[in-house]
Amino acid sequence: MYVPVRVYSEENAVLNHSHELAVFGRKALIVTGKVSSRKNGSLDDVISALKMHGREFTVFDKTEENPCVGTAVMCARQGIEEGADFVIGVGGGSPLDTAKAAAFLMKHPKNGKELLYQTGDDSHFPLVLVPTTCGTGSEVTQYSVLLREELKVKKSILHSVFAGLALIDGRYLKSAPLTIIRNTALDSFCHLVESRINKRADSYSRMFVDSGLLLWGKNRSALESGTDDPAVYQSLMDASAMAGMAIAQTSTTVPHGLSYYLTINMGIPHGKAVGYFIAGYLSAAHESEREYILKKAGFSSLDDFQEFYLRICGKTEVSRELLSAASEGMLKNPQKLSPVPFEIDRDVMEKMVFFTSNHIN
Ligand SMILES: [Fe+2]
Repeated sequence: MYVPVRVYSEENAVLNHSHELAVFGRKALIVTGKVSSRKNGSLDDVISALKMHGREFTVFDKTEENPCVGTAVMCARQGIEEGADFVIGVGGGSPLDTAKAAAFLMKHPKNGKELLYQTGDDSHFPLVLVPTTCGTGSEVTQYSVLLREELKVKKSILHSVFAGLALIDGRYLKSAPLTIIRNTALDSFCHLVESRINKRADSYSRMFVDSGLLLWGKNRSALESGTDDPAVYQSLMDASAMAGMAIAQTSTTVPHGLSYYLTINMGIPHGKAVGYFIAGYLSAAHESEREYILKKAGFSSLDDFQEFYLRICGKTEVSRELLSAASEGMLKNPQKLSPVPFEIDRDVMEKMVFFTSNHIN
């Protein structure tokens, strides 16, 4: 287990730990999205924390949803031109993953973007991450998933980029639309499931999965009804970070690999897309594992989970052609297949892929 990130999870985490943030460098490249970090107060908090300690900053706010390699390159270029010597990612998974790739590229300015997908030196600029959604867990993982435009695939860069500091404040979820909270919380549930049903799981990753599932299950009713309770927001963010620590050890598996087909071809948000395949994965897993996970998250059966998914995400129509293409593609994806602890042949893959389509649509 290796998760070398100092984590603070509390109300006002950014301002409370401004001195720790400030020691990361002299001038920060702040990487964020176009709107939400201005609305939820996270960007203001980061800027106040930097000003408090006389640090300079430049803001890159052009991160799109499902960021592409080109965005990370543009972001790193701004950081280099502005003379930034550390990076702060603020927002959901997209800005956080872009910040990681930019921190890596800024450290290797003479090389091109090709270096992202070549193994080797993982060194990167110092990095601080401030999440504002409750799904990606990116603030504690080494992964940076980017869209490779030329190949039309979403793929993690081949370098391990951990932040040195993660500041988690549930208040930033308060202004998020309920659909964002639902989609991202589903992502964290899928991280927990894929990490538990995983060859690389060990006692430590299972410890994070167990705590994450309990916390997620205790607070999941808020995904149906919404909530004003700050403790619930903090808990959903904690469950997401615990899920992140678990996949930092195990990586994700087939449902994540399949989800990218729905996201790239249909624009379905990440959490909803992974959630579409997670019941199929659970159905194919060993019964004891399936029952264990469902019980910990407070579901009485797989049907109970499916109904929950349908209530919070609605019906999703996916063409048989796309599902078949996803199934075929995944059979040729050793990266996502290798951590799966059960045998997957074409028949098992198709049952998993078509499970939701056959059961709830
Ligand atoms: Fe995910």
